[in-house]
Amino acid sequence: MSNSPARGPATTLIHTGERLPAAASLTVPIYETSTFVFESAADVQAYAEGRASGYLYSRYDNPTVVAVEAKLAAVDGAEASLVFGSGMAAISTALFGLLQAGDEVVCCVAIYGGTFHLLNGLAARFGVTTRWASLEEFAAPDALIGPKTRMVWFESPINPTLRLIDVRKVAAACQAAGVLSVADNTFASPLNQPVLAMGVDISMQSVTKYLNGHSDVTGGVLSGRQGLIDRLAKTRRLLGGILDPQPAYALGRGMKTLALRVAAHNANAQAIAEALHGHAALTAVHYPGLPSHPDHAIARMQMTGFGGMLCLDLAGGQTAAFRAFDRLQVIQRATSLGGVESLCSLPILTSQFGLSDDALARAGVTRGMMRISVGLEDAADLIADLRRAIEE
Ligand SMILES: Cc1ncc(COP(=O)(O)O)c(C=O)c1O
Repeated sequence: MSNSPARGPATTLIHTGERLPAAASLTVPIYETSTFVFESAADVQAYAEGRASGYLYSRYDNPTVVAVEAKLAAVDGAEASLVFGSGMAAISTALFGLLQAGDEVVCCVAIYGGTFHLLNGLAARFGVTTRWASLEEFAAPDALIGPKTRMVWFESPINPTLRLIDVRKVAAACQAAGVLSVADNTFASPLNQPVLAMGVDISMQSVTKYLNGHSDVTGGVLSGRQGLIDRLAKTRRLLGGILDPQPAYALGRGMKTLALRVAAHNANAQAIAEALHGHAALTAVHYPGLPSHPDHAIARMQMTGFGGMLCLDLAGGQTAAFRAFDRLQVIQRATSLGGVESLCSLPILTSQFGLSDDALARAGVTRGMMRISVGLEDAADLIADLRRAIEE
């Protein structure tokens, strides 16, 4: 009798893989697989030589991921989109994929902190320099572009002041100089601000925010012309930042209600801004949809909706902002934005943490600011919550 263990059928089953019959699923199936099976060497060769389409490995591509990329491209009005495991993975892939040592990026000083540190620290170590320009300098973008400039990076609306940059003006200056323009459109979403239609080369977003909309996925996207996206797809394979199939599915599901959610975010934020504008406990309500906003004219030119982000500036400064923050009952004390639940964060403890008074003043940020990502709760409940929090 042999002593070798019996080979049961279970072992065989694990290794054969499952061939499912094609089924007309209404929703996108989750291809929860890291790799794809070929029938023959000839098939692998045809794929490798680009004669046959298909899938090889999920770090390159995956059907669930490709399905959500088609949706993202449609929403952005782009020829193609690439989705990533975070907004930061999208940003780093754009920088490493399109720049080389000796190139200069022109970037607005008022920018997401992760982008700032990536450009200032990591990209600088690889020989890519950044020229930091103020919001005022961005108002005359032709003068910003020098002989070594290869890319101009900016976001609008800007965190947390909600100041705006004239997207068409920057895109036109970049086009005239043959320089790539990239807009981080996370705060507005393409539904409120279609940046590609305004001439920008690449639209970047953290899909963690409005596109997914439910605060349960971390992801990012780059959208643009096919040629640019093809180059970036090669970089994504090497940097390995592709989104997994599960969150790609969740993102696609979240996007089904994007238009409804964005309209409701816009309406709620406008209602809160109007209700609290002029309140004695506040020195300002920063919201692009208010005529008092310094960039309201630009907002009317380039935004079809004014967004779900607003910022309150408390007359009592830091003490009043901390107190109001602690007294919120409906709005949650949490960073991030763009989800169905309203969130509040204090910029001096998050995006502007540790900055000196001078640096805060340059960014237009005060110690009394509360940033609100307005969710989809009843507007009256949100207004009551804020009034209760800021009043004596
Ligand atoms: C404007 C903006 N861009 C980029 C990012 C980075 O995105 P993620 O956190 O998904 O990496 C964020 C995150 O808060 C953001 O607010």
